[in-house]
Amino acid sequence: MTVMPATEPSTPRRTATRRHYLMCRPEHFAVTYAINPWMDPVAGADAGRAVEQWEALRAAYIALGHEVSLIDPIEGLPDMVFAANGALVVGGRAYGAKFTFPERAAEGPAYADWLRKNGFPDVLIPEHTNEGEGDFLTLDEVILAGTGFRTDIAAHQEAQEFLGRPVVTLRLIDPRFYHLDTALFPLGGANVAYYPGAFSSGSRAVLERLFPDAVIAGEADAAVLGLNAVCDGRNVVVNAEAAGLIGALRERGYEPVPVDLSELRKAGGGPKCCTLELRP
Ligand code: ARG
Repeated sequence: MTVMPATEPSTPRRTATRRHYLMCRPEHFAVTYAINPWMDPVAGADAGRAVEQWEALRAAYIALGHEVSLIDPIEGLPDMVFAANGALVVGGRAYGAKFTFPERAAEGPAYADWLRKNGFPDVLIPEHTNEGEGDFLTLDEVILAGTGFRTDIAAHQEAQEFLGRPVVTLRLIDPRFYHLDTALFPLGGANVAYYPGAFSSGSRAVLERLFPDAVIAGEADAAVLGLNAVCDGRNVVVNAEAAGLIGALRERGYEPVPVDLSELRKAGGGPKCCTLELRP
């Protein structure tokens, strides 16, 4: 009898590194306004259910060995659960957020305050509109930065100057994928998974050149926010409905960790949106 290996013999062994994440319990979560096509204030959303799903996400990170810090939720800021938008923290320096819509404006100072008081005194209050890690994704050599719906291209330059890392601009063209992190996620420090349909043709060409070995996701996986995933080098915390993507990741030697964040998706968010990485 022959035993089939679980993956191709050539599939590299992936290694996880311990991460530090900041999260915000969705106690005041609601869909009361619509600033992206996923949001329907008439249908609303259930904060109780969102908290349960979010607790399972937090538990998954802890089970994987990561450290999770918490910022207190603020009443009247229903989207504050989406911690990724609060800042971009690289090399111990924090580039603050400046939100596009007035509904979320108060979140910028709230996250900046938390960072200052919790080991990140070097916070830049930005001049230009940007929604933190929603539109800035950090790899080993470059930071990929989205524009088109939320983050101003001038913020890409501001972040590059402050952080001293090359920032590569990518243009988003589909309103369902209004933040870069809804269409692409880093697979460790040197590769990515993405949905090409979210990008302008020039930006697609840039991605093909930088990442010839990328995991390419289809529309069905993108439409359940499957690209809004979090990878620690080996494990990929990803929306459970993204079946095609989950299979593709497994084939490439990654370990998918499926989660159900269907309630938070009613605001246009997934696992990555709920997670701000704090890089020392
Ligand atoms: N309702 C929020 C907004 O439209 C969702 C933010 C999702 N966050 C993210 N990192 N993609 O601003």
